[in-house]
Order: sequence, then structure tokens, then C-alpha cells
Amino acid sequence: MEKPKILVTRRWPAKVEKKLSESFDVTFNDTDIALSINDFCDAMKKFDAILPTVTDKIPKKIFEVENIRTQILGNYGVGYAHIDISAAKSLGITVTNTPDVLSDCTADITLTLMLMAARRAGEGEREVRANQWEGWRPTHLVGTKLTGKTLGIIGFGRIGQEVAKRAHHGFGMKILVQNRSSIDPSILSQTNAVQINKINDLLPHIDFLSLHCPGGEENRDLIGSAELQLMKKEAILINTARGEVVNDPALIYALKNNIINAAGLDVYNEEPNLNKEYLDCPNAILLPHLGSATNETREAMGFRVIKNLNEFFSGKVPEDKVS
Ligand code: DGY
Repeated sequence: MEKPKILVTRRWPAKVEKKLSESFDVTFNDTDIALSINDFCDAMKKFDAILPTVTDKIPKKIFEVENIRTQILGNYGVGYAHIDISAAKSLGITVTNTPDVLSDCTADITLTLMLMAARRAGEGEREVRANQWEGWRPTHLVGTKLTGKTLGIIGFGRIGQEVAKRAHHGFGMKILVQNRSSIDPSILSQTNAVQINKINDLLPHIDFLSLHCPGGEENRDLIGSAELQLMKKEAILINTARGEVVNDPALIYALKNNIINAAGLDVYNEEPNLNKEYLDCPNAILLPHLGSATNETREAMGFRVIKNLNEFFSGKVPEDKVS
């Protein structure tokens, strides 16, 4: 039997690429440059499976090409708001993602951003590198503690829960959560978390706000100027979810006008072309979408895609089917 023809849209960890080559007839994108929409449309006619990432925009247009051969999009990543799921569904194209395996690392980067923003680590590092450090003094780059503070988490799925564990058990933080559905009390009790129904009722009470909800249109601008106004002046906003969840002009205004204290961002609207005004905000910590970027996790994500492909091509429903 012929092996399924697979397109991998970006370079993956070597071990995973090797494993893929053993099982499938694979085409790799040696340039590692994201495919254009036209290239993607073309690929839909040639491959049984395409393995995209967050850098591939997969709108309705892609599903409108004639003679589509692709039966499964095995997304390398947990978020899939870049794929028009209802268009995929209407054609019976399976879409899978890679949950669980990146929860630890995304939670770790969240805590990295919380600490960096609270302790002004970006400003300090820039000062040392610019050879402008004048030495220790009691008033130099004074930040704020995490220990004992209150963390608000919007979206209490696997990543949100891992953040809560680190913040509560590591830093003694009090946890308030807002989530679309009610959270099982046994999960809340692991971090003594309290669920609040409305975001607006949570915002005035927290010192840190961390976003872990899905991206996409449903959550676009979830945090805008009205929400930022409800937060304490000392509060710090962390976004490791998706750029569209935060309204950029509103956050930039809030950072420049002391509406909130600081922000830590790993994701942006229109990546990698982030709103350049963030660069003028010393109180913004800016990372280049590193949430899942460890060897262990990037390999685990790849092996999870392979598992989904194997299940699909052996006639089973893949464990991580999202459509
Ligand atoms: C994810 O898995 O969604 C990460 O943000 C990388 O795409």
C-alpha cells in the first residue's frame, strides 16, 4: 500500500522529522518560510495530510479549491484559531491539535513573564547591556513581589491550571479564575482557587492577570480599555494566549499612562509584526512567542501529531480531533 503523502509546513525537531519520514511519504519545507495562501491552496490538491502551525493562516478560501485531496490537517500546536474550523468541518476534513504536552512549558513562560515584569528584569538587562548601570542603590529599579499577591486567570483549561499550581504552591498566590463553564470544585481546590463568573467582577481584585483562553473572533479584544480601567494601577497583565485577546492601542495607552503597572507578552496581533509602540514601553516585557519552545516540548508536540496521523490513517478517530 502507498504511504500517505504528507506536507510539513515548517521545519520540525530532527528526531520527529526522522520518525515522520519512516512512516510517510513526506515533503518538508526546507526553506522554513511560511507558505503563502496560494501555496497552501495548491498543497490541498496534492497531499493527503498537511501539518501546519500557527504561522499558517488557513481561511475559508483554502477550503474552496477544487479537487481537494487533503483529508487531515494535523496542527502542530494546541491553538487552532488560525484554521477556519467550520469550513474544514463542512468538507469533512479532520483537524487535530497537540494539547497537554505544552501545558508545563507555557505555564513556565507565564511565570517567567510575571517575574520579569514584576521585577523589571527587562529594564535591568537593557541597562547592563548598554553599560549604563551606576551601581547598587536603595531606590534602583524597584519592582514588586509575587509572593502573597492575587492572580486572576482567564481560561482555566490545562495551561491555566498549571499556571495556578506554580503561582499558588510556589509563590503563595491567591487564585481567582474566570472561565466560560463551571470548573469542577476538585480542580479549584488543588490551588484553593475561587471561580468568579464575570471578568469585570474579577479585574478590580487582582494584582496579576494572566490570559489562557482561546484566540479567534470570539475572544478578540476581550481585554480593552474598559477592562484595563477596572484593574488596579499596580496590576500586571500577562498574555501567553493569543494576540487578538488584547486590544493593542488600549494596552499601549494603559502602559504609557499608568493605568496599569506593566505587561508581559509572548503573543501578538499580526505576528511577527507587532504594534511598534510596544517598543516604546519600558514596562512591557516582550518575548517572541516562546511558550512551547523547549526541546522536550517541541519534540513531544511533533510525536503527538504523528500519533494523531497514525490513528487517522488506521481508520480510528484521532484522540486530539477538534473537527
Ligand atoms: C500553540 O501551541 O498554540 C502555541 O502557541 C504555538 O502555536
